[in-house]
Order: sequence, then C-alpha cells, then structure tokens
Amino acid sequence: MWNDNAIGNLNIAFGWVWMNFGFLTGLLMGMKAEQFGLNKLDVGPTWMGGYDSVPRRLLRLGHIAFIMLPVLNILYGNHIDAAHLPVVWKKTGSAAMIFGGIGVPVLCLLAVAVRPAKRFVGIPATAVLIANLIIAWGFLKEGL
Ligand code: HEM
Repeated sequence: MWNDNAIGNLNIAFGWVWMNFGFLTGLLMGMKAEQFGLNKLDVGPTWMGGYDSVPRRLLRLGHIAFIMLPVLNILYGNHIDAAHLPVVWKKTGSAAMIFGGIGVPVLCLLAVAVRPAKRFVGIPATAVLIANLIIAWGFLKEGL
C-alpha cells in the first residue's frame, strides 16, 4: 500500500476521493436549505430546526470537514515525504491524517441522528493534531 519513498501518495489519493462527499453533502444541503425562495424544495430557515439548531450545525460541520480535511490530506501528502523523519513516523502521520479525515466528518454526520456520537469526534480530531505535530516536528527539526 505504501511505497517508502512516496508515503504521501495515499493521502493525496484519499483527499481527492473523499472530498467528493463534501460536494455531495453541500448539494444535498443546498436542495433543502436554499434561503432565497428560488428552490421549489425550499424549506430554508426552518429546515432541521433552523440554521442555528444543533443537528444543522453538525451537518454543516460535517460538510466543511468533508472538504477541508481532504484538502489538508492533499497538503500533507505533498509534504510528508520531504519531512526529516524516520519512515515509521511518516507512515504514522499519514495514517493518522487519513483516520482523522474519515472520522471527523463521519461522526459529525452520525451525530445528526445519534447525538452521543459527537462525544467521539475528539478521537479523530486528536489524530489530526498528532499527524500535524509529527510533520511540524519534521520540518522544524530541519530548520533549527
Ligand atoms: C458543490 C459545492 C458546495 C455546495 C453545493 C455547498 C453548499 C452549502 C450549503 C447549502 C450550505 C448551507 C447549509 C445550511 O444552510 O445549513 C453550506 C455551508 C457552508 N459551506 Fe458549503 N458547499 C459547497 C462547497 C463548499 C466548499 C468548497 C467549502 C469550503 C472551502 C464550503 C464551506 C462551507 C462553509 C464554511 C459553510 C458554513 C457557512 C456558514 O455557516 O455561514 N462549502 N455549503
């Protein structure tokens, strides 16, 4: 799965594939949440309890995470191979970034229906933090 000299390729492939869910959730929300009355399916302001309701905020957070964590994976994938780190750390960071990219948006969406799922978002979010600390250390070490 991993070529030791191109570890980041998996993050790049994952990012471009997974980002599609961001556009899909956006399109689905747009069909429901259109606020300007142009859409026949318009239930805008009151949909899911209104713009400020927790379920709708969780859905929006999932939508944004479905786009931005793939973007971060693509960025990560482009840089991780150049970081001054042992291969095992590069692989750990790469895997943690993918785990976070899957876990955060999926749990946000799950929490729309099953609220307690929100409690677990911190786990994949921590994986993203760890991945970032690893790559930051790799480049910082070189700069020091
Ligand atoms: C096919 C592309 C996209 C569609 C159809 C789409 C659709 C939507 C819709 C309908 C909402 C409002 C949801 C609501 O009313 O609860 C929304 C919110 C949002 N979207 Fe997207 N989106 C798309 C792409 C993007 C991209 C590329 C980004 C980020 C780079 C993004 C970031 C956001 C953010 C930050 C919000 C929340 C805005 C706020 O709360 O004021 N979206 N999107």
